[in-house]
Amino acid sequence: MVSKASAPGKVILFGEHSVVYGTPAIASAIDKKTHAVVEIVSGDRVEITAPDINIESKIFSFEEVQEKGDTSIEAIKGCIREIWKLHNPTGLKIRVWSDFPMGSGLGSSAALAVALLLALSKEYGIDQSGFDMQKHAHEVEKIIHGNPSGVDTTISGSGGVIHFEKPDKIIPLELKTTLHLVIGYTGKHGSTKKTVSFVRQLMDSHPHRIKPIISQKKEILLEAEKIMLEAEEAMEESDLKKLGFLMDLSHGLLNSLGVSCIELENLVFAARKAGALGAKLTGGGDGGCMIALVKESDVDKISDAIISAGGTPIKTAIGPASDNKREND
Ligand code: PMV
Repeated sequence: MVSKASAPGKVILFGEHSVVYGTPAIASAIDKKTHAVVEIVSGDRVEITAPDINIESKIFSFEEVQEKGDTSIEAIKGCIREIWKLHNPTGLKIRVWSDFPMGSGLGSSAALAVALLLALSKEYGIDQSGFDMQKHAHEVEKIIHGNPSGVDTTISGSGGVIHFEKPDKIIPLELKTTLHLVIGYTGKHGSTKKTVSFVRQLMDSHPHRIKPIISQKKEILLEAEKIMLEAEEAMEESDLKKLGFLMDLSHGLLNSLGVSCIELENLVFAARKAGALGAKLTGGGDGGCMIALVKESDVDKISDAIISAGGTPIKTAIGPASDNKREND
């Protein structure tokens, strides 16, 4: 048998970094996916093909799959180890690929974990009703990100648009209007592990400055949280102008935390200059991607502006008609 599955990437609309400290975030799945195809084969070897990380038919022994390392193949090995906690090891042939760039702040590692865990659990005949996808995907994310909030694996597993709070509070948000986004990929790899640890150091060394921006909830309502809650209202009211303004504010806060970079700033300002309603970095920062909220009629104009500023545009739309759910085909 061959088992296939796919899971969507994501954008964080509001609340990256502050979500690590317990404030809510708004995240949306996108119509770009990561795909996994899995087959049980005879023998005691695992063959992995992952063109996005330049791996073509690489063979691993069972012992090598169990060894932990820090290479880009670790998320794939991590998924196999998680499933082998539930099923005896067997020979496997695995192929994974993505519609969007890896390590770009679009949740590729989470999408890979969800897609591959789904395909593997299906191939091994594991009862899906008792299968705790989030728990296993979170374990895999830890290999890549250290101590992730869980927002990436949650949105990749749920699809749609959600309000998320650590550890597992999810409120699905129903958008009445389609939001047109142009994602701008800087081409620079951003390490979420590094930026999260940078913000932690900033918090430890300047708590009186950083706490009021992101900090833990249940104190006063903090800036990032205020923006987040107003953004939910703006979405509810389909007030795109206000939503864009709040995205600009959110980017300003993230910039004050030191997680932007010249490549992101160039794309953010290019999009704003070309008429975006708002623009901000998305995900861990220091590279990766930014997002611009745009009028449907401006999608091409803003994509061109991103290209002129040295980035790669990815057009996406979120909301009622978006194809952004995971699939277990
Ligand atoms: O860079 P990404 O796509 O993995 O997003 C990370 C989001 C952070 O809030 C920065 C980290 C986290 O664990 O939530």
